Amino acid sequence: MQIDRIVAELTTEEKIRMIHGAGLFETGAVERLNIPQLKMSDGPMGVRAEFEKDRWVPAGNGDDDVSYLPSNSAIAMTWNPALAYEMGRVLGEEARGRGKDVILAPGINVKRLANGGRNFEYLSEDPYLIRRMAVPLIQGIQTADVAACVKHFAVNSQETERLWVNVEIDERALREIYLPAFEAAVKEAGAYSVMGAYNLLRGEHCCESRLLLGDILREEWGYGGAVISDWGGVHHTLAAAKSALDIEMSVTPDFDDYCMASPLLAAVKNGEVSESFIDEKIRHILLLMVRIRLIEITAGEAPQVKRNRDRKRGCYNTREHRQAALEAARESVVLLKNEGQTLPFDPARARRVLVIGDNAVRRQASGGGSAEISALYEKTPLLGIREFLGGNSEVVFAEGYETPVKNESGENWQAASLDAALDGEKERRAREKRAQEQAYHARAEELRGEAVRLAGDNSFDYVIFVGGLNHDYDVEGQDRENLALPYEQDALIRELLAVRGDLAVVMLAGSPVAMQAWSKKARAILWMSYSGMESGFALAETIFGAVNPSGKLAESLPFSVEESSGYVGEDYLGRALTDGEKQRMDAHLTQEYREGLLVGYRYYERRNVPVQFAFGHGLSYTSFSYGSCRVRMRKGCETAADGCGGFGAQTVECCEVTVVVRNTGARAGKETVQVYVAREGAAEHEPVKVLAGFEKREVLPGQETICTIRLDERAFQQYDEKKKAWAGVAGGYELLVGSSSADIRQRIHVTI
Ligand code: BGC
Repeated sequence: MQIDRIVAELTTEEKIRMIHGAGLFETGAVERLNIPQLKMSDGPMGVRAEFEKDRWVPAGNGDDDVSYLPSNSAIAMTWNPALAYEMGRVLGEEARGRGKDVILAPGINVKRLANGGRNFEYLSEDPYLIRRMAVPLIQGIQTADVAACVKHFAVNSQETERLWVNVEIDERALREIYLPAFEAAVKEAGAYSVMGAYNLLRGEHCCESRLLLGDILREEWGYGGAVISDWGGVHHTLAAAKSALDIEMSVTPDFDDYCMASPLLAAVKNGEVSESFIDEKIRHILLLMVRIRLIEITAGEAPQVKRNRDRKRGCYNTREHRQAALEAARESVVLLKNEGQTLPFDPARARRVLVIGDNAVRRQASGGGSAEISALYEKTPLLGIREFLGGNSEVVFAEGYETPVKNESGENWQAASLDAALDGEKERRAREKRAQEQAYHARAEELRGEAVRLAGDNSFDYVIFVGGLNHDYDVEGQDRENLALPYEQDALIRELLAVRGDLAVVMLAGSPVAMQAWSKKARAILWMSYSGMESGFALAETIFGAVNPSGKLAESLPFSVEESSGYVGEDYLGRALTDGEKQRMDAHLTQEYREGLLVGYRYYERRNVPVQFAFGHGLSYTSFSYGSCRVRMRKGCETAADGCGGFGAQTVECCEVTVVVRNTGARAGKETVQVYVAREGAAEHEPVKVLAGFEKREVLPGQETICTIRLDERAFQQYDEKKKAWAGVAGGYELLVGSSSADIRQRIHVTI
């Protein structure tokens, strides 16, 4: 009501000012009515440093260093929703502390391809796990009077040609794999804003899509929040204006020429677009401003916009934020392999320690694309190890491998990623890359020789290798060509293992890498992602046993791109458009999601494709045994409040699985009990089983704990294309309870 009155006060020109970028990260204000601009910043690993208003040039005031938080891929590996909430809260407080209204996070796209350039920004290959982690992340952010902007809606699962790839997907896969996390983000978490994706879906640009933004988001899900475009994701004035998009943002400084700026004003004036479309956008924007307590609208006949004086002011770089980042980092480390209890190393015996590898000394925060931040500090693994061991240990470092400077031209990444689509640019980049590789080889041999010589010197009590990827690979705007470890690391690790069998191998990467060249020989392998400012210290604590690892993989680690889900042959990043498509749509290529429902472990299991390490896998320095399970079925759970999920279930079965977990080892540890549901008689194109519940618990040595895991109604439903709704599927099911998708300890049969 009050909002409508404000809308009525605004002139068309003023409204237009509010619905498009007036700076690279801000909208226009309407001073006459006290309506402020919206200030935005990227996410998700912290609040991005300031740019000049109209140039991709750092503002350089030196007041924008922030807490560097674990990436979403790291947060997901904690399998701990409470930590996700904490990371959201910290991110929200820092955003508010930096004066922001909207933080462009979290990224919740499904990791469809193992080589996806932006996988480090996303949570998982599993929609249920994404949902369970994304909801608290968003809720945490929004406690700070800041809007989360959940991105990128939707099916934005590749970086190659991201602006011009059209996605074709069947309805069931869309509903069961790619939309549930977004649905939960708006319905369960109440996200105040959503960012449209760059790609097209079924011929429509997502930021202009009637299907996605109109029919699904607004109509079906009843979403009243704001929809913001990805930067440069809008291409057509009329389509965007008539869609449910509210704000157009872009990467160029010609703000008045944006589609939803002067061109739209002209279209309204000449009657091509009804002003009612614009009014609707303004309503959403004003509502967002009220929700984040940026403004309040006074009551009465002549309402006015006022600044809300009660708004939280936020804070950044606090000790408490650093502590929270450390706690999340600790739980994000995954122990992949630990033969003969090689780890933990004993700090008391660590008189001389050799640390090898570029990732031991590399600061990662400032890379990756729009997720880059300027970290207040970042503890690298080498720093963390030195800090942890103290002055009585000698820690020696050897490079082992070198990383060539990739972007020597210093061109801005965001502009460059858009240029990548230009003719001939791909070829030029490929040529440049080959030349670099040749020059690299000679130097690599030298560094390898030096590291192996040192590792073979038996005066070292422990040798630790820290390698993997970095943000030259885990980066926005480009997918990796394969899963190979770069920088000739395979040869290096093999040679190190030949002289040092108890080498601790740490793989630090935001997405899967192939390890088969040496993983059988390695006794101890740790896996971690970009885990924030305290990541190096958390790693040191884990290696030396002060922390018992409890992370679990949030994605499968396949052997190669060719064997990974979503790979359907050479043209797996998209095929040429058909003639019909060329007429119908404004795209360069089409990506057919031919695997349908079979994404990640759903594919590997159904097609019997072996993987290096399975979804949900992660060891501990202790061991857990699982007692027998009990299942309790209930009818008629009605709301989210009784714990049966947030989708407003009506008279459905609600299921509780209870299992006793015992710590059978000698130290305290945390176990994540996972429940998968396998429908009997599932077809070839359907998954063998899907994750439907989990719980992480700390158990003391010799003690046991009773875990009760509730499965919501969707565990026994499918999306019914005919009814256009989720519907229960009667029949027999097996509930599989285990420590990973590949380590099932208990099975129970139920009939629905
Ligand atoms: C990315 C978004 C980001 C935006 C603003 C785009 O290139 O896809 O995730 O929020 O830029 O930097």
